[in-house]
Parts: sequence; C-alpha cells; structure tokens
Amino acid sequence: MNDIENFIIRNYHKGDYPGIMELWSATDLGRPERGDNEKIIEESITLGGCMLIMEEKASGKIIGTSWMTFDGRRIHLHHFGILPIYQGKGLSKPLLEESLKFLKKKGFQVKIEVHRKNLKAINLYKKAGFEYLGDYDVYIIRDTNKL
Ligand SMILES: CC(C)(COP(=O)(O)OP(=O)(O)OC[C@H]1O[C@@H](n2cnc3c(N)ncnc32)[C@H](O)[C@@H]1OP(=O)(O)O)[C@@H](O)C(=O)NCCC(=O)NCCS
Repeated sequence: MNDIENFIIRNYHKGDYPGIMELWSATDLGRPERGDNEKIIEESITLGGCMLIMEEKASGKIIGTSWMTFDGRRIHLHHFGILPIYQGKGLSKPLLEESLKFLKKKGFQVKIEVHRKNLKAINLYKKAGFEYLGDYDVYIIRDTNKL
C-alpha cells in the first residue's frame, strides 16, 4: 500500500484545494490566519512557483504537498507535508526529490523555515543538502491594517 509505485507526483490542478486543505489541517501546515487560499496558490504558480501534489493512485487522495514560491530572487519551499497515516514510510523523500528537480531547473537559491523541534523535517532537509543558516529568528506582520 505504501510503495512509491502506488503514488504519483504531479503538478497542482484546479479542484485540488479541498484535498490540500484536508492535508494541511491534519499536519498543522495551514491555518486561516496564514492567508493561504486557492487564489494565492494559483497566483504563486503564475508567478513562477510550483505546487507538487503526491496522490495515491487507487483512491485519488492527496497525501502530500510541496509548495515552492518564487519572489524573483529566491524560492521558498514550504507547506511540505505528508498525510499522517502515510508518514514514516519514506514517502516524503521522492516528493522532496521531485521538488529539488524543480528547484534545480529554476536555478535560484532555496530557503526553508523549520521549527527547531521538528527533527523529522530537519533530518530530511539536511540529508537532501540544506544547510543551517544560523541563529536567525523569524518575524512577520500578518495584519497590514495595523500598519
Ligand atoms: C516532515 C515529514 C514531511 C516527513 O515525512 P515522513 O513520512 O514522516 O518521513 P519519511 O518516512 O518519508 O522519512 C524521511 C526522512 O525524514 C527523517 N525522519 C523521519 N522520521 C523521523 C524520526 N522519527 N526522527 C528523525 N528523523 C526522521 C529521516 O531523515 C528520514 O529519512 P531516513 O529514514 O532515510 O533517515 C512529515 O513528518 C510531515 O508531514 N510532518 C508534518 C508537517 C511538517 O512538519 N512539515 C515540515 C514543515 S517545515
């Protein structure tokens, strides 16, 4: 059931959003205050980014996402996750490999943010070649009405 042959990795297409949201809720990758919605996903692709979807062939279920957004200078890789019941089977590795192929083709530096306690993700990213950037903290303004 969890062999990679039972899954495909493909680009996002219209209609994926409900399945994506299900995955992001289950993995705590998407919360309403983060402002990620269908429109933003599609615009980010138009701007040169990419949303890779891992789908179980038999059920059509979305079990993995990897979202790469491009700001003209760097690529940010985020919302990388595997649906919990499919975790721990090595499925994140082919999804990350496909993401790296996209990144290599784009030819821009790539950045990720990962919680320092998220050892699963840290191990995965380090093995794939990501290097720790240093003791930076991350800041954000979520509500521009307050500016
Ligand atoms: C991070 C995540 C994508 C990894 O997927 P996974 O299915 O759990 O992990 P896999 O079975 O594919 O293992 C891939 C690698 O992750 C690391 N890893 C997995 N489980 C681990 C654990 N319990 N402890 C430490 N490292 C672990 C290992 O490096 C492993 O490779 P290896 O087996 O060759 O050593 C997945 O756990 C997930 O979706 N987590 C919730 C969302 C999230 O935190 N995303 C990252 C945001 S930055």
